Amino acid sequence: MDHFEYRDGDLFAENVDISEIAAQVGTPFYCYSSATLRRHYAVLADALAQAGLPDTLICYSVKANSNIGVVATLAAQGAGADIVSQGELIRAMKAGIPAEKIVFSGVGKTAPEMRAALHAGIAQFNVESLSEIDMLASVAQDIGATARIALRVNPDIDAGTHEKISTGKAENKFGIAWEDAEAAYAHAAALDGIEANGIDIHIGSQITDLAPFRAAFEKTAELLDRLRANGHNITRLDLGGGLGVPYENNNETPPDPVAYAQMIEQILGDKGCQIILEPGRLIAANAGVLVTSVIRSKRGQAKNFMIVDAAMTELLRPTLYGAYHHIAPVIETTTSDQTIDWDVVGPVCESGDFLGLSRPLPDMPSGALLAVFSVGAYGAVLGSSYNTRPAAPEVLVDGERFEIVRQRPDYEAMLDGETVPDWLS
Ligand code: LLP
Repeated sequence: MDHFEYRDGDLFAENVDISEIAAQVGTPFYCYSSATLRRHYAVLADALAQAGLPDTLICYSVKANSNIGVVATLAAQGAGADIVSQGELIRAMKAGIPAEKIVFSGVGKTAPEMRAALHAGIAQFNVESLSEIDMLASVAQDIGATARIALRVNPDIDAGTHEKISTGKAENKFGIAWEDAEAAYAHAAALDGIEANGIDIHIGSQITDLAPFRAAFEKTAELLDRLRANGHNITRLDLGGGLGVPYENNNETPPDPVAYAQMIEQILGDKGCQIILEPGRLIAANAGVLVTSVIRSKRGQAKNFMIVDAAMTELLRPTLYGAYHHIAPVIETTTSDQTIDWDVVGPVCESGDFLGLSRPLPDMPSGALLAVFSVGAYGAVLGSSYNTRPAAPEVLVDGERFEIVRQRPDYEAMLDGETVPDWLS
């Protein structure tokens, strides 16, 4: 459930009228709801507690929405962070997430990133290859630190999701092959500067069925037993993120967090391990909308186009994954308004630049506002300045108040750092 609703025909984020924000901030902009972020975090935390899992850590996956206002909202709820770069480490810490609640994932950590995270004293590195273990050991030895690691193993399970966001199959670049896991733990155990006491998996994103999770957790339980039999002291199980959310106008029914938590408890609850989760989308997706204005509409022979001021530069998911995002007028139209099908497209010079195809909407005048829903996760973070478009501002609402938590850059700021080379000036 989210906190975006129509009141007397006008879309509100919590108690703030979105049209009011648009008047002050200009479009396009992202609008996030604090109450929704808190609610989604609480639903998962409560589900874990209710399932009777005593020792859990929810590490919000910062990549989903890394605005520090958003991360700070979750930090205040007690969230940890799953990060994948030094930049995200800096963001997470700036937002108030304590280092001891930070796990560092990713297939390509560099030595400087490892050093920064070791200096910060993070909880765990999720390590994905033998060469990464060796590099981490050498960086740790160099600075006299010990890196607590989990090995990310690839359970070779089809998460049944879009191929570009599936990570747990043998052909994906992620993790250590299941067959090689025992040897990798033996390798890690022999190294100074490394404490290999975790297992990590993450099989994909926007997973709408519990079955692949079950299969992966069962394999993890089996591996845990084998590793313990081999003498490894495994104390942490990081089960990744991946829980799906409803996008299709809330008609989808992704797994219930309570059922998910109960399944974890059933399969892994008696192993005496801390359970770490890395949810991103579940927390943030439905906590954000993208607000855009109609520039003009254009009726064609084959299609009608509604050209708006947001584009693939603000929301890449439709272009990249063919993803569906619900689009609706911010000021509700009456049923007497005749609708026709429109492709809602941006101004970017690419035919793939669209936010929604064949959407039944009234012919809206220039300046009318539209909301694109469920963009709180993988919206702003996938943005670009292609076509020299300034990044859209991000606004965070909390009850009656709102604040711009990322400003729209002016053109001077956008060009700052670029130069005409000496030989041309
Ligand atoms: N942990 C790891 C190691 C991950 O790679 C990811 C997401 C997560 C956690 C969080 O997954 P979530 O709970 O959000 O599903 N841009 C794509 C999604 C890419 C997901 C990448 N990894 C999209 O817009 O659908």
